[in-house]
Parts: sequence; C-alpha cells; structure tokens
Amino acid sequence: MPEPLSPAPPIARVAGTGSALPERVVSNAELVRELAARNVETSDEWIVSRTGIRQRHLAAHGVGTVDLAEGAARAALNAAGAKASSVDLLIVATSTPDQVFPSTACSVQARLGAAGAAAFDIQAACSGFVYAMSLADALIRTGSHRRALVIGAEVYSRILDWNDRSTCVLFGDGAGAVVLEAGTSPGILASRMHADGARGSILTVAGRFNQGSAVGDPFLRMDGKAVFKLAVDVLESSAREVLALADLAPEQVDWLIPHQANVRILAASAKRLGLPLERVVVTVDRHGNTSAASVPLALDLARSDGRVRPGQTVLLQGVGGGFTWGSVLLRM
Ligand code: UT7
Repeated sequence: MPEPLSPAPPIARVAGTGSALPERVVSNAELVRELAARNVETSDEWIVSRTGIRQRHLAAHGVGTVDLAEGAARAALNAAGAKASSVDLLIVATSTPDQVFPSTACSVQARLGAAGAAAFDIQAACSGFVYAMSLADALIRTGSHRRALVIGAEVYSRILDWNDRSTCVLFGDGAGAVVLEAGTSPGILASRMHADGARGSILTVAGRFNQGSAVGDPFLRMDGKAVFKLAVDVLESSAREVLALADLAPEQVDWLIPHQANVRILAASAKRLGLPLERVVVTVDRHGNTSAASVPLALDLARSDGRVRPGQTVLLQGVGGGFTWGSVLLRM
C-alpha cells in the first residue's frame, strides 16, 4: 500500500490590510515656507520634478511609531474580520522605534490584547516590510503559525536633519499593516530577501546610545545618487528572481508595488520590466517616503480604492538602508 500523500503545506494569504497616517498633511508649499524660515532653500518645483512628492503626513509631538502601528493593525484586523486574540505572530518592521525595547511589536501586542503571540521588530530600513512578509510567509508555511499581523511603521520626521535640504523634503510618517493567514490557495507565490552590508555607508543613521548619552550623528544621511542607481538595479534583479521562482513573466504582474522613494525610481523600474506606469501603485506623491511603511500603505490604498482585486498578481518590493532589498510576489 502506498503511503498516504502528505497534505500540501499551508500557503500564506492576505486576509486584510490597514493604514494609519498622522492627521497633519504638509504640502510642499508649506514645507518650503517653514524651511525658508531656517534659511534652508528649496522649492516645490525642485521637489516635484526630482521626486514626484507633493505632500507628506507628519506626526504631531507625542504621536509615536507604536500609535501609528496600532492604528494600522486595528484597521487590518477589522478588514480581515479577525480578532486580535487569534493572532499568533506579530512582526513590526521599523527603523524608528519609540524606544530600544520592549520592541514596537510587543507594545502593539499589549495594546491589542494578543498575549501569547510571538512578537518582535525587524530592522531592514526601507526593505523592512518586505523582509517581515517573507519571514511571516516562511513561518506560516512551516505550520508553526497560522495568523500573522505584519506591520510597517515609521516616524522618520524624528531622524531628519531639517537643515539638510537633500533629505528633509523626502520623507513622511505613517504605518501600514497586513493580516496574513494560513490557507490552501495562493497566497504568497514566492519571496526573497537580500542585503549587501558593504554598501551600507550610502544610507545611514549612525548615532547610538552609549554610557547614558546619544553618541554620533542622530540624523539620516544619504548619498542620493548612489542609492538611486543601486535601487533601480536591485529592484529589477529582485523582481526577475521571484517571477522566475513562480514561473511567471513580468507582463503577468497586475500591480507593481515598490518601495515609494521617488517616482523616477518607480518609472525606471517599471520600464526595465516592460510594465506601463499605469500598473504601478504610486503613493510617493501624497505620502513621501515612509520607509518600511510605504509598501503596506500603498497596498492598502490600492485595495481600498478597488484597483487591487482578488485573484490579481501583485509584486511588493523593498529597497533601502543596509543596503537591503527584497520582493514578495503574491496572488490576492
Ligand atoms: O528610502 C530609501 C531609498 N531612498 C531612495 O531611493 C532615494 C534615492 N535618491 C533619490 O531619490 C535622488 O537621488 C534624490 C531625490 C535624493 C536627489 O535627486 P538628484 O536628481 O539625484 O539630485 P542631486 O542629489 O544630484 O542634487 C542635484 C542638485 C544639487 O545642486 P547642484 O550641486 O547641482 O548645484 C543639490 O544641491 O539639487 C540640489 N538639491 C536641492 N535643491 C533644492 C538637493 N536637494 C535640494 C532641495 N531643493 N531639496
């Protein structure tokens, strides 16, 4: 008698998405005025033409990463029709936690009342959400976890040097979340994470705590041109890698949702894959660069406005400090 076939391993599928953005929306015009008062010269024309950014949300004093993460998590649980107590894995991707520890994930867990679930943060800068999704996918496939909350949450406004025009106009604050759960139909088709630490110096926040003091440069520093060039290269190679793993061609992707740093990077990536810009979800115009939050914010927006629909194939991509990058290819 043949051995009975073992059941297929579970597949992680998106059951719900959610977002949280700070109330305050700062247009380029308002930012330009505020920076002029500090003798920092920039213009709406420069920001729009070089980046595509028109506005960003900035957190008020007292609003932390955990507040935004909690808001996005609650919205995602609501969309999934799932109770917090049913979550057995909680991962927050952030490089702007409110404290060293407990992790943002543990703080969110306490607020949601999801005691007992595994909870931890991961730090892969702007690739963090894609890393977290890959990790949650892997854990769901092993059968050790069945329902995960995967969150990207950031308050980058706290690590910006508002006297450095080459970075301070680029970023915004926010959080996005996804409920991933074990199922039998796709689901995440393929995912891969990568890093090249030897290129770490092109995007850093080098400061740290030591002996009771903050030591070193506490602000984000970036060699924008180097990051731009590397980002376009790795976004293409990473997209092709996961598409090959799933035996799909680029034109079978319904929606490309890359990290939102610069509309010129999005356009260049789409062009290299032979996809029209109409199939790229663009949020950098309204959110700026929200680092680990940018991909789940864009996914949630495109789901809520009806662009991303069940059955469609979506490619999520992260790229940023570390240097890190990765992709998650999924069927909604
Ligand atoms: O989230 C992680 C991933 N991050 C990214 O992917 C960001 C990647 N990089 C970029 O998006 C672009 O490189 C930037 C938007 C950061 C910069 O655009 P760029 O076309 O590479 O400009 P640049 O840095 O070469 O600067 C061009 C000029 C310089 O002046 P000179 O030297 O040509 O006279 C800058 O001083 O623009 C000047 N500049 C500004 N001018 C007005 C830089 N920032 C500003 C500003 N306003 N805010």
